Amino acid sequence: MCGIIGIVGREAVAPRLLEGLQQLEYRGYDSAGLSTLVDGRIERRRTKGKLVNLKNVVGNNPLPGVLGIGHTRWATHGVPNETNAHPHCNDNVSLVHNGIIENHDEIRQELIALGYTFVSDTDTEVLVHLIDSYLQKSSSPQQAVQQTLQKVEGAYALAILFGGYNDLLIGARRGSPLAVGYGEGEMYLGSDQLALMPLTQRVSYLEEGDLAVLTSESVQIFDATGQLVERPVHEKASENIVLSKGNFQHFMLKEIHEQPEVIRQTLASLLNEEHDAIALPDLPFAIKSVPKITLIACGTAYYACMVAKYWFEEMAQIPVEVDLASEFRYRKPPLQEGGLAIFISQSGETADTLAAHHYAKKGGQHTLAVVNVAESSLARAVDVVLQTLAGPEIGVASTKAFTTQLSVLACLALAWGVERGTITKAEEKRLCAVLAQLPEAVRRALKVEEAIQQSALSLSRARDVLYLGRGTSYPLALEGALKLKEISYIHAEGYAAGEMKHGPIALIDDQVPVIVIAPHDRFFDKTLSNLKEVIARDGPVTLITDQEGCAKVTDTQVTPIVLEDADPYITPIVYAVPIQLLAYHTALRKGTDIDQPRNLAKSVTVE
Ligand code: G6P
Repeated sequence: MCGIIGIVGREAVAPRLLEGLQQLEYRGYDSAGLSTLVDGRIERRRTKGKLVNLKNVVGNNPLPGVLGIGHTRWATHGVPNETNAHPHCNDNVSLVHNGIIENHDEIRQELIALGYTFVSDTDTEVLVHLIDSYLQKSSSPQQAVQQTLQKVEGAYALAILFGGYNDLLIGARRGSPLAVGYGEGEMYLGSDQLALMPLTQRVSYLEEGDLAVLTSESVQIFDATGQLVERPVHEKASENIVLSKGNFQHFMLKEIHEQPEVIRQTLASLLNEEHDAIALPDLPFAIKSVPKITLIACGTAYYACMVAKYWFEEMAQIPVEVDLASEFRYRKPPLQEGGLAIFISQSGETADTLAAHHYAKKGGQHTLAVVNVAESSLARAVDVVLQTLAGPEIGVASTKAFTTQLSVLACLALAWGVERGTITKAEEKRLCAVLAQLPEAVRRALKVEEAIQQSALSLSRARDVLYLGRGTSYPLALEGALKLKEISYIHAEGYAAGEMKHGPIALIDDQVPVIVIAPHDRFFDKTLSNLKEVIARDGPVTLITDQEGCAKVTDTQVTPIVLEDADPYITPIVYAVPIQLLAYHTALRKGTDIDQPRNLAKSVTVE
């Protein structure tokens, strides 16, 4: 997963390429590079590590030129070092790539036989020499790219410039997103609208197999068959989105604290004016006749799906299956005609989720997506989009996207329960009132931060941590463990509390902290028994609960983190806050790179 950007223009591009890359760093940050054309010659600066390193390199050794491309990398093939950093180039071609070329080995052998020398371990470098080999056979740059793309298998978004062509930038996409930006006497390519935001508000999105030929004055787009096509230009008024940490030390902490407000906004888009019913947009299917819902996602969004399964089954009595996109897409599950497939994704660009959508669509499913990025590939592909109004989420570990996803899913479960006659009007009214109180409940949950800081101290010394929960607290246990792993690098596992005795109990001793997530709900007493089993084996416990739950536990080995009472309908959203804060403060103690943890990327655009 990488971020790419390109500018064919009239003014110096290097500073603006760097600015665009800054917006794309969430896609990868293990190395970065720029390439421009200077007097028709390809120039390049690259470096290992974050963008700030590249800025220093360019600061010390400036890169002139009004035509250029840039890249921020998340390594797939080849370790993150300068040699493997993009752009990859020879004298005639320089390009940046997001995706994976699957048949690179075979093509590499053919090119070596033709006399080409390879210097990197990447899959990408074959593209440079393959395009060059077609150029040598007197193809035009456009033809050479088309011929190359016919030969490669895999996924790509590309931005390519050519030695000697001072006013030409070519972009292409298959499987990875790419947007074209329109300026005055300048044109742009970027992985997403965010990258183009500092440059232009006029953007079109390339479709699968498209190839775009850009000059400073024109854009031509060709589809997969080579036909000249028009792609709609979206004019997006500058939203003045400020990507700053404000007074917070990290984006993640800022985003945790933004939750009351973004949940409020998200709910406002789904609750009616009186706040006593859910007002969904018109749907192209009747939920009454949907035989089954399949919920599909990756990462944190997958845990949102797991919570939704409890809601949809209990409140709307619809059979639900939950699947990881990377499994679903290859498992060949039989799909019942007329079923509904729901995809949850912050970015709307996750490669596996997009592929899973493709499979579901082919299998005759209605498709609905809950996404945070309204113009994303997923949002453009599904039948119905419900947007989470979380605003840009910059911290790699998802927080506000998760709780806004849950907010949307809670609304869906309620609306569909009413429609299917499993929830009465009176109950709908009551639950809407509960939802309307949710932002305030989340605000109050933030107050446990001080208590969390204490628990984080002991957690930061642990090697392994176990999270337990039942009911909707089970997916939260999984999410808690994921959050901790992602940003503190401490090994953690989430388990259904009732399953502990079937294995993980063997791990427990006084060195393994156990985080028990247990609001005082109908599962509480069962979870309490499991907590006692931990204590009996000397396990130190942090219990995240409410007043009533806390009153029932007096053991000295238990450190309680006490939230205010909340209706069970919304506890998965409220209890997400302490588990986020716990991971954050543990990571802070460990001094890790919280917003950009090692080896991770925010948007996973390769499978
Ligand atoms: C990455 C991110 C996670 C995210 C997952 C799915 O792993 O680090 O935070 O949950 O991708 O991303 P999506 O954009 O589809 O929600």
